[in-house]
Amino acid sequence: MRSSTGLLGLLASLGMACAHPARGSIDSDLIGKLSTGASISHNASVFPRWSEFGAPHPGTIVSVATEADVQATVQYCVSKNIPFLAQNGGHGWSGAFTLGESGVLINLRGLNNTVFSADKTQATIGGGAIIQEVINQAYANDVQILTGNCNCVGALGAGLGGGYGNLMGLYGFSVDNYLSFNVVLANGSLVTVTPEQEDLWWALRGAGPNFGIVTSAVMKSTPLAQADNVAWTGGLWFTEDKIEQVTQAIEDLKLEAHMNIFLYFLTSNGEPTVLVTVFYYGTEADGREAFKSIIDIGPYDDTTAVLPQNEWNAGADGFCTKGERKPTYSAGFDHFVPTTWRQIWNDYTEFLTNPNTSATTVVVECYSLDKAQSIGSETASFANRDIRFNGFAISWYPDASLDATAKAFGSNFRNLLRADDGLASNRTYVNFAFGDETNQVVYNNNTQRLRQLKKKYDPKNVFNQWFDL
Ligand SMILES: Cc1cc2nc3c(=O)[nH]c(=O)nc-3n(C[C@H](O)[C@H](O)[C@H](O)COP(=O)(O)OP(=O)(O)OC[C@H]3O[C@@H](n4cnc5c(N)ncnc54)[C@H](O)[C@@H]3O)c2cc1C
Ligand SMILES: *[C@@H]1O[C@H](CO)[C@@H](O)[C@H](O)[C@H]1NC(C)=O
Ligand SMILES: *[C@@H]1O[C@H](CO)[C@@H](O)[C@H](O)[C@H]1NC(C)=O
Ligand SMILES: *[C@@H]1O[C@H](CO)[C@@H](O)[C@H](O)[C@H]1NC(C)=O
Ligand SMILES: *[C@@H]1O[C@H](CO)[C@@H](O)[C@H](O)[C@H]1NC(C)=O
Ligand SMILES: *[C@@H]1O[C@H](CO)[C@@H](O)[C@H](O)[C@H]1NC(C)=O
Ligand SMILES: *[C@@H]1O[C@H](CO)[C@@H](O)[C@H](O)[C@H]1NC(C)=O
Repeated sequence: MRSSTGLLGLLASLGMACAHPARGSIDSDLIGKLSTGASISHNASVFPRWSEFGAPHPGTIVSVATEADVQATVQYCVSKNIPFLAQNGGHGWSGAFTLGESGVLINLRGLNNTVFSADKTQATIGGGAIIQEVINQAYANDVQILTGNCNCVGALGAGLGGGYGNLMGLYGFSVDNYLSFNVVLANGSLVTVTPEQEDLWWALRGAGPNFGIVTSAVMKSTPLAQADNVAWTGGLWFTEDKIEQVTQAIEDLKLEAHMNIFLYFLTSNGEPTVLVTVFYYGTEADGREAFKSIIDIGPYDDTTAVLPQNEWNAGADGFCTKGERKPTYSAGFDHFVPTTWRQIWNDYTEFLTNPNTSATTVVVECYSLDKAQSIGSETASFANRDIRFNGFAISWYPDASLDATAKAFGSNFRNLLRADDGLASNRTYVNFAFGDETNQVVYNNNTQRLRQLKKKYDPKNVFNQWFDL
């Protein structure tokens, strides 16, 4: 069916129009170029995202089954000027997506395989695998592997922006553990990028979504028997009057390689409370000794346990719940200022008086950075190596009528952190950013080189939805 008429209609029939092709013609043009396992559909709700706030609204979804399907789809979209976006876990919370009805979502979930080399020192991770799948495969094969701490998140979605995770005190960031990428570039080539392609290798590890779609990555892994792959981890729950003591103790705590600690303001049984989660890769006795300064403050409950790697993330599964609106603001900072955290608590409890906001959560992630900092900041475009603490506030509610209130709460939270962040400039981990940040805030002093490389590798800026350079 052709609805356009006259010259435009003629051009369209010759495949020369500038206007985007209609859905039907995308389907018929593209289906023959895809493998038999791939499919094309039009209801994006079937692939729900973590947050509906600022989410992409594609008219067409291409669910790929092979790396070549990704290549064919990119080639087609580029040749027809159709905007497109890759989706892995669908947890990217930046509200800056622009993909609309005329756009194509490339659903990578069919590429969800994780396989190990014979000696188990390398894992090949598909571009659509989520963290739970990677961990389950690793654990079942007596392998330890670095991942993020939420099961539902895309393994490469998180890793290409940097990749924080429980074991980074031992291994560094995800970007420090990749060995090669298969990637579809803007020119439509499916290439293998290794450290030898210095520029692309640097750019992909920190700003990956701006340079291509990674269809698979080879990552370092460690052979390790299940029995040894255990940690002491879980929750220490505090009443709100301990906020000053807890934040000061986290500020003063030296995080050794086996440790990390998170602070949460969240609700439990409907009441706001303070949760500290601890992680110690080792025995409970050593863990309790390492976190003595926190435990001595006197939690009202202790839900820690010794758990194998395939259960470390289970405590955070509640955060994986998809849907509803979750505008999230974040800032990196170098020092906890207890009075600031009292103010944040007051603002948090006030926000909770809005209807249906009880899942709203404030989080600070604190990791051991010695290993990551022993790797030079110039080795990858990831710009957050020097940041001690990353804080974020997730406003979580069903109804868009609360957006303005939530944005005010979130941006005020970010302002409070920035006001005494102890840093030379405003900084935010790219994968935690809200979407309104300048390049400088998320890419810091790597911005200029990234922009130069962008001109070289993606001159038409077809990869333009994730902290566009
Ligand atoms: C509940 C929760 C827990 C989190 N925990 C962690 C954590 O422990 N550590 C951490 O570092 N971060 C964490 N994050 C942040 C996370 O890194 C980002 O949200 C990340 O963008 C999510 O990736 P995704 O694949 O799930 O999302 P998507 O929205 O699918 O992808 C995010 C962006 O990356 C692009 N992208 C995804 N896959 C590819 C690929 N294969 N090739 C090229 N581009 C790709 C997408 O096009 C999109 O622009 C968490 C987020 C949430 C919501
Ligand atoms: C789209 O998918 C969602 C979720 O599966 C479903 O509830 C909805 O009815 C679908 N919409 C249409 C128009 O089919
Ligand atoms: C994982 O990949 C397989 C093979 O491509 C596919 O059949 C399956 O649906 C994928 N899983 C998800 C959750 O998409
Ligand atoms: C695409 O770009 C890459 C990286 O510059 C290059 O190796 C490859 O040859 C290019 N492919 C085409 C078809 O031009
Ligand atoms: C809260 O959500 C429930 C449904 O989950 C809805 O019935 C109710 O109207 C909402 N309350 C407000 C004040 O929005
Ligand atoms: C840093 O952020 C604060 C608060 O968001 C803002 O007022 C200030 O102008 C920013 N500083 C720079 C250098 O952009
Ligand atoms: C870029 O910034 C980081 C973090 O502040 C710093 O460690 C690094 O030396 C800087 N690099 C250059 C080239 O200025």
